[in-house]
Amino acid sequence: MMSEKKIKKTVVSGIRPTGNLHLGNYFGAVRSFLKMQHDFNCYFFIADIHSLTTHPTPANLQAGVRQVLAEYLACGIDPEAATIFIQSDVPEVTELYTYLNMNAYLGELERTTSFKEKARTQPDNVNAGLLTYPVLMAADIIIHKANYVPVGKDQEQHLEMARTFANRFNRMYHHKLFPAPKPFTFDGKDMIKVPGLDGSGKMGKSSGNGIYLYEDPADIRKKVMRAVTDAGPTEMNQVKPEPVENLFTLMKIVSAPETVEYFENQYNSCQIRYGDMKKQLAEDIIAVTTPIRERILELVNDSEYLGKVARMGAEKARESAVRTLTEVRELIGLRKLY
Ligand code: TYM
Repeated sequence: MMSEKKIKKTVVSGIRPTGNLHLGNYFGAVRSFLKMQHDFNCYFFIADIHSLTTHPTPANLQAGVRQVLAEYLACGIDPEAATIFIQSDVPEVTELYTYLNMNAYLGELERTTSFKEKARTQPDNVNAGLLTYPVLMAADIIIHKANYVPVGKDQEQHLEMARTFANRFNRMYHHKLFPAPKPFTFDGKDMIKVPGLDGSGKMGKSSGNGIYLYEDPADIRKKVMRAVTDAGPTEMNQVKPEPVENLFTLMKIVSAPETVEYFENQYNSCQIRYGDMKKQLAEDIIAVTTPIRERILELVNDSEYLGKVARMGAEKARESAVRTLTEVRELIGLRKLY
């Protein structure tokens, strides 16, 4: 009799170890990791090679990797269910990156939004790693033949490029080796962007507007109470200015629908008290972060456990990467003469 066992689809996603995880990372990515880990064949990693574009010191890099690993686990990613690993533990990724670079063109790389943004904001460090960042990311994804990639809206273009590079390789070598990786979102709707509370833009590690999972409740309350708003609506059903819209966006992500509805009604009838809204928002954020924070504090100094998880993940991830690389080399024609 045929086995009834369904083959699980594969999922890959990563986070750079450039700072502690914030609400953007959690709601844009990690929450989906938790939802997917038991139903899919998951690879979640720490993108330490990607973080080298900003030249961290060796000590900072190591501390960052350790911190993100502890935070992944503290969020509830189960190393027995998902493969959790560190990117640099799987050198096959950089080999695939080299091959993909041969078919990645200067024009398309230069047109990438994140590259243009970095070239503008850090003109003294426009390195080749930044230019080919989407190629390395494609290698991360397709080396495990991923079907889905749970990421936030800011990674949409990179993911589109991963599909381009995967399809291009398949076409070039006349073989459907790589599936086209698709975005995955928590609620099956659009990819999300968690806003910062400083008036505009997204929450980011380097924007100084992050609310972090490890933060203690008093600090979170302070940050939320300082969020930018305005003098309040003067007309019924007035369109919200961006800072106020952002406050509502965050509330829609962390609070119950009735809570959002209550404050929407208050806003639309010009009765809103932003202080009350912020107090509620802070408490709803704290309800998410508190259990995670406690586990981060427990885990971050448990070197033995972190080491064990990293070793186990490296072994599993390498096994899958080596398998793909063997096929890749064969297709390209890199065959041994001995
Ligand atoms: P990184 O480290 O900047 O962010 C990690 C994850 O968090 C999401 N994210 C957000 N989502 C919503 N709103 C926000 N404000 C917000 N800020 C961050 C990101 O979308 C991402 O999912 N290039 C990637 C790392 C990477 C990767 C990969 C991801 C390397 N290789 C392969 C997926 C697959 C990055 O820099 O993410």
